[in-house]
Amino acid sequence: MGSMDIGVIGLAVMGQNLALNIESRGYTVAVYNRTEARTRAFIESQSKSKAIEAAYDIESFVALLSRPRKVLLMVKSGAATDALIEALLPLLEPGDILMDGGNAHYSDTDRRYAAAERLGLHYLGIGISGGETGALLGPAIMVGGSLSGYEQVAPLLESLAAVGPHGSCCALLGPRSAGHYVKMIHNGIEYALMQALCEAYDLMHRGLEMSADEMADVFGRWNDAELESYLVAITEKILRQQDPEGTGPLVEMILDTAAQKGTGKWSSQSALDLGTPSASIAAAVFARITSSLKAERSAAEMLLAGPHPRLSMRRDEALDALFSTLLLAFLTVYGQGFRQLQDASQDRAYALDLSEVARVWMAGCIIRARLLVPMGKAFARQPDLAYLLLAEPFQSLWNKHQASFRSMVACAHEAGIPVPAMSSALNFVDTYRTARLPANLLQAQRDYFGAHTYQRIDRDGIEHTNWEQVR
Ligand code: 6PG
Repeated sequence: MGSMDIGVIGLAVMGQNLALNIESRGYTVAVYNRTEARTRAFIESQSKSKAIEAAYDIESFVALLSRPRKVLLMVKSGAATDALIEALLPLLEPGDILMDGGNAHYSDTDRRYAAAERLGLHYLGIGISGGETGALLGPAIMVGGSLSGYEQVAPLLESLAAVGPHGSCCALLGPRSAGHYVKMIHNGIEYALMQALCEAYDLMHRGLEMSADEMADVFGRWNDAELESYLVAITEKILRQQDPEGTGPLVEMILDTAAQKGTGKWSSQSALDLGTPSASIAAAVFARITSSLKAERSAAEMLLAGPHPRLSMRRDEALDALFSTLLLAFLTVYGQGFRQLQDASQDRAYALDLSEVARVWMAGCIIRARLLVPMGKAFARQPDLAYLLLAEPFQSLWNKHQASFRSMVACAHEAGIPVPAMSSALNFVDTYRTARLPANLLQAQRDYFGAHTYQRIDRDGIEHTNWEQVR
């Protein structure tokens, strides 16, 4: 019988770094990768004293593990994960623990969970965030699955996670696919925060004609205030990076078409299915899609008129307004993400504790931010909080900054600088805080052409009008 504490399958950079992280916490690790050359390269790059042992076929890999076996899959989500699980299942025994640490779609995790549990295995769907460095030094770990399965790996997982202001950023967040669902929403939020930051950069760069260093200084100042977060911090660093080929700031040499692997899209698809208004997250996904139409955009720039992209505000005034805008856009986006989790938790019986989700996001992950501390407190005080901005201190922040938010979005529109994330955030909150919307007319239109009926405001019951007869 083997003696290794855990096995990691998949030695792309995330798998390698997680294996190293686990070993550094005092555990012994077996590793296996489908292509043998990669396993050899990894093992040869490490010192012999490391408690890492390689296997070159899956049977030998499983044989290296102590019982109950603990296997962490770090492979591409989708078909590759299914193929691997199919190969593994006959080799595992009841009581073994199978963990998927990839960005799996929650419906795949539900299916795999059910199949594994039928065989008496424990299946954990684990969202891991923090990129390459996080995997090595301490990621945020969002786990979904059974409590008994989690309990057996909790000491290991909790030891390798980042440590935030409220402890290890690893937790069992709910049953079945809850961990992967939370990670998907994490990524949806990530998309929208990144888009809002790109818009702030565009407004400073084109709208205020600021240099990369000047913009870096601004992001640096913001990172010392309420906006302190990983994404603001890396934006400052990116803007300071010079092109080694000597052209100036490297960022200006990067082709402006955004790629995506799909988690933001999944997040929006699920929002549509649930009927939850994650509008700014969807706006960020569409902004990436539109950015990829480079040739069309270049042609359209010659054909479709617009104003000179210069903001009609003094620079100091504009930068203050931009801070307010980014702060409120960030809060709106986190609020939409948490609201989607609230709705998904109801719909999918995850029983999520949103203060715990906020706690796990406080360190290690890509959306870590100082603001998550008061967010966690707000959900601890009021677990069924419908929307983040309704709670303090966020309500007061909205009330304080909303006028500047409006001026900046208006100014951006006036200058023809696109701000889809910012503008959708403002539109969302304005819609949310409007007691009477024009949806009365919409209901009338539906009833006009489709006899879809409507309700009156002055009595109960369903109404229909024969609108064609109205003169
Ligand atoms: C993380 C990241 C990570 C990855 C995403 C985003 O939390 O560490 O979210 O999972 O960067 O896959 O990828 P795309 O931007 O390519 O969709």
